[in-house]
Amino acid sequence: MPVKENIKQLLQSSDYDRKVTVMGWVRTKREGKNVAFAALNDGSIIHNIQIVIDNAKFDEATIKSITTGSCVQVLGTLVQSMGKGQSSEVQADEIKLLGGADADSYPLQKKGHTLEFLREIAHLRPRTNTFGAVFRIRHHAAFAIHKFFNENGFNWMHTPIITGSDAEGAGEMFRVSTLSPTNPPLNENGDVNYEEDFFGKETNLTVSGQLEAELGALALSKVYTFGPTFRAENSNTTRHLAEFWMIEPEMAFYDITDNMDLAEEFLKYMVQYILNNCKDDLEFLNKMYDKELIQRLESVVNTDFARVTYTEAVDVLLAAKQKFEFKVEWGVDLQSEHEKYLVEQHYKKPVIVVDYPKDIKAFYMRQNEDGKTVRAMDVLFPGIGEIIGGSQREERYELLEKRIDEMNIEKESVWWYLETRKFGTATHSGFGLGFERFVLFVTAMSNIRDVIPFPRTPQNAEF
Ligand code: 4AD
Ligand code: MG
Repeated sequence: MPVKENIKQLLQSSDYDRKVTVMGWVRTKREGKNVAFAALNDGSIIHNIQIVIDNAKFDEATIKSITTGSCVQVLGTLVQSMGKGQSSEVQADEIKLLGGADADSYPLQKKGHTLEFLREIAHLRPRTNTFGAVFRIRHHAAFAIHKFFNENGFNWMHTPIITGSDAEGAGEMFRVSTLSPTNPPLNENGDVNYEEDFFGKETNLTVSGQLEAELGALALSKVYTFGPTFRAENSNTTRHLAEFWMIEPEMAFYDITDNMDLAEEFLKYMVQYILNNCKDDLEFLNKMYDKELIQRLESVVNTDFARVTYTEAVDVLLAAKQKFEFKVEWGVDLQSEHEKYLVEQHYKKPVIVVDYPKDIKAFYMRQNEDGKTVRAMDVLFPGIGEIIGGSQREERYELLEKRIDEMNIEKESVWWYLETRKFGTATHSGFGLGFERFVLFVTAMSNIRDVIPFPRTPQNAEF
């Protein structure tokens, strides 16, 4: 069966005066004395197609049934539109109501609903201009990720969602268990006996596919993951989700500088792809949410990112006139107010910070000669803060083992990871891009709950 023409194709077609069938949801309807107009949208493009309804051809009940939110099928003639800004429209011969929508109770009647309200009706919000635009851009971004890595010789690796290890060592995991929550089997010490659990041990939803991606890189050289990750961190912010999507490239024979170069090239490619392929949606978001959106995207593509060490960044913050809520001193993790200052006030462009204190970073990062810092890198973006976190990995067996011991990580849960350092170890690096943070950046949305169809956050798993 041929693919049916959608509204995007019909609007762009100049093959006029032919019979077409169009399906979609009614956005608005205006009734005049002789003709009525319905604006139909099917989500293929931000624009609606206008349906011209000659009152003489239809009974009143049919015209009345075409309410905002209803779904209709129209058979008619595609004609060139005289209205400004519209290329084609459909003169209706037949209208079939596929699904009515009660005018009094359909929640999207009024224009200008708040984003907060729309979050409560996440089952219907994709039918708004804003969310149609955001979710189309999200799709194009996902597609561009695969395109970039495929063009650059990376293999997409499917890392497990259920794991027995805590890659980030932050203990922010969701447990996966089939044991009875009220009456679990206990061992001699009175603790829950996970040997009787489904997998015969404690398991959780993954916080990162990195450790497994490293195994892949040490065989296929260049791999990447792109999948959901889960963090039970109780941070109710506009930048955190409990379930988010992460892209994690991992490359053998890359050191930290190669890693930074790749991160910068990748982000620029992604932003350029969105600029090239999502013009209508970007123009809408630029007009409605942030007049500097497109300009900001173009500037990211055209500027070299600043690259500074953590120590230099701390010096910049210490010299700042601005008062910060969180005190700055060497050794503390950078807070979002600090990241914002660096990117938006000081460097005025994306910033890559490297060589963080080892005590605030994960066990797997390569230790520097100074004994204090590790080859960690964070990419900070305007309006977002940290968009990427990554590092060169510790490839030296003894040093890695020592770090695992120092940080009280259960060696049994990562024995396989350690073995790669015993058998043919190699310099390697990688990073993780938070997909939703990227989508935030390119859509000018300000809350991460508005760039994923069904957000998972503390106290919220509706839909
Ligand atoms: O900095 P993170 O924790 O790094 C890792 O997970 C590494 N294993 C990545 C690697 O080197 N392969 O997370 C990476 C990115 C962050 O920079 C941020 O963009 C995003 O993931 N992120 C979140 N996004 C939404 N909600 C959360 N709770 C997030 N936590 C991290
Ligand atoms: Mg991080």
